[in-house]
Amino acid sequence: MKSPARFITLEGGEGAGKSTQAKKLAAALKRRGISSIGTREPGGSPGAEEIRNLIVHGEPGRWDTLTETLLIFAARADHVVRTIKPALAARKWVICDRFIDSTFAYQGAGRGLARETIRRMEAIVLDDFRPDLTLILDLPVETGLARASGRGQGAARFENFDVEFHERLRQAFLAIARRSRERCVVIDASANAEAVAEAIWKTVAKRFKL
Ligand code: TMP
Repeated sequence: MKSPARFITLEGGEGAGKSTQAKKLAAALKRRGISSIGTREPGGSPGAEEIRNLIVHGEPGRWDTLTETLLIFAARADHVVRTIKPALAARKWVICDRFIDSTFAYQGAGRGLARETIRRMEAIVLDDFRPDLTLILDLPVETGLARASGRGQGAARFENFDVEFHERLRQAFLAIARRSRERCVVIDASANAEAVAEAIWKTVAKRFKL
């Protein structure tokens, strides 16, 4: 029997190469006859993409942290219901560039919102829906920020927070990986893109016995 469609998320700080790796993973799955969709957060559905524009542009202090987190969860609710769950139901794998762990890292560790507050929103929006596998792309903060500033994509609001903010993010993602060992795998993202793609593929193939 065909294995069930899986929900895979990529996480990490700025400039970790998540979107490149998401595309490479989709291509690797396709070579094995597995169809997938690529999506991202904030965003991933028409309404959530509109909310994304409010979140990723403008001054770092544009939003009060609680308001920002509510916007992120509003986008996530729409994305899960309109994009992720229908794709999985249609037996397509879902590869998502960022998801719930980014909220614990950015709004929690980064911006200081209490973890319990995020947990309560998580319970309302996701219930027990979680990724089957989360790949945490880890690299030194300076390397990531240098890569991110070179790509000129315009979603730069969080790049403009200070270096200590980004260091807290890195430690937060690593702590999430330690707490959720059954779901998360840390990938060294400082290597070149091909080597990172290889490490990701090995992890995915092993996890899902492909
Ligand atoms: P990206 O597409 O370049 O990763 O940009 C999305 C930005 O949104 C990134 O700077 C991280 C931020 N973000 C949060 O702050 N919290 C979240 O929950 C998510 C999904 C993203």
